Amino acid sequence: MVSVEDNFPWPKNIVILGSTGSIGQSTLDVVRQFPDKFKIIGLAAGKNLSLLLHQIKEFNPPFVCVRSAQDAKELSWMLSGEKLRPKILWDDEGYCEIASLPEAHMVVSALVGAAGLIPTVHAIRAGKDIALANKETLVIAGDLVVAEVDRTGVRLLPVDSEHNAIFQAMEGHRRVHVKRILLTASGGPFFKLTREELAKVTPEQALKHPNWSMGKKITVDSATLMNKGLELIEAHWLFRLPPEMITIYIHPESIIHSMVEYVDGSIIAHLAVPDMRIPIAYALSYPDRLPLRVPVLNLFEIGHLTFFPPDEEKFPCLRLAKEVCRKKGTLPIVLNAANEIAVDAFLAGRIGFLDIPEVIEYIMSEHERMNGNISASDFDTVLQVDSWARRETSEYIVRRQSNMS
Ligand SMILES: NC(=O)c1ccc[n+]([C@@H]2O[C@H](COP(=O)([O-])OP(=O)(O)OC[C@H]3O[C@@H](n4cnc5c(N)ncnc54)[C@H](OP(=O)(O)O)[C@@H]3O)[C@@H](O)[C@H]2O)c1
Repeated sequence: MVSVEDNFPWPKNIVILGSTGSIGQSTLDVVRQFPDKFKIIGLAAGKNLSLLLHQIKEFNPPFVCVRSAQDAKELSWMLSGEKLRPKILWDDEGYCEIASLPEAHMVVSALVGAAGLIPTVHAIRAGKDIALANKETLVIAGDLVVAEVDRTGVRLLPVDSEHNAIFQAMEGHRRVHVKRILLTASGGPFFKLTREELAKVTPEQALKHPNWSMGKKITVDSATLMNKGLELIEAHWLFRLPPEMITIYIHPESIIHSMVEYVDGSIIAHLAVPDMRIPIAYALSYPDRLPLRVPVLNLFEIGHLTFFPPDEEKFPCLRLAKEVCRKKGTLPIVLNAANEIAVDAFLAGRIGFLDIPEVIEYIMSEHERMNGNISASDFDTVLQVDSWARRETSEYIVRRQSNMS
């Protein structure tokens, strides 16, 4: 049978935003396995210049991007003994330029946090297909982003394993027949702890995810269940279903990556070993499938799979994310920004694990009290609300600390 993509002029030109992160490195591993299929034409990193240098030497991209003019100077110096001479871009403008390169066919959006929004929007506006890992893009500006996707007709292909699973389980089926999405969650490392035990957990413990190896922010989000809340909002925008049609199942084995239930009682699930290269490869090659070298799923070895309902009292971040998904307006921006600041403060030992939802809830209530929950009609407003919430959260954490000392 002839595939839709047989006429595609392989290799596909790829730009990775966040190449030095966990998703970025897994994406490069997929590219490494299929050099005839993919060509790296742009790598955008943050501060990890030594890893970026290795990546430049291996993949020889014509464009790279770093965070500041100073970092660009340093990278240029690091490359001075090399034959390779990529054009080095920097700062917000650089990320947007690399995301819109005329030669690019696809942009992998894998920066972490709200920093991913504007470069991803530039890529969409430039007509690039998006492999979306940066869930915060949809969390904080879902309506605006979806409108840009509709206007430009680009493909928004989910990389998050759950959304990639749902996307696969919906392929070939009619949306009107979907009864609900069953979004699975590992439950993180603290799923079985009591609230008293949760009060004492350390950043080191929170960074030890039982099944997945990921960046620090998403690993802490998995432990608080905020990650699942953000994913619920992401699923709401990606699949255009109301939050009431998305049910969360704690599934500690992380083998079923999510399921879709249809009106006739059928449930279609996607199963695979927990390895991000699988959803990444599917997004990169869609609608083809690549003979990926990854560990094979052995169900005899696994034996049985378990499922539990989430406990929103023990993990209030999930309740807060559901609330903002229902209320919409600017609250999701505030939730996300407050969470980013609170997670950083937890990792720095400045607040405890249970303070994370408490801080977020306080900033959400302050936002409703002071600003009201009007909706953001453009991306500038999204960024303004994001800055407000970051500032308020940082100041609140400082006030809490000084009250305690
Ligand atoms: N990791 C996973 O398995 C996974 C699964 C599903 C979804 N996701 C989502 O994918 C995104 C990336 O996650 P990750 O785990 O790969 O994160 P990560 O390991 O922390 O990597 C983040 C990347 O973004 C760069 N970066 C961070 N802050 C930046 C800023 N302000 N400006 C420019 N670049 C910046 C980092 O650069 P440096 O390191 O060079 O500083 C790095 O390349 C997140 O939205 C996450 O929720 C991740």
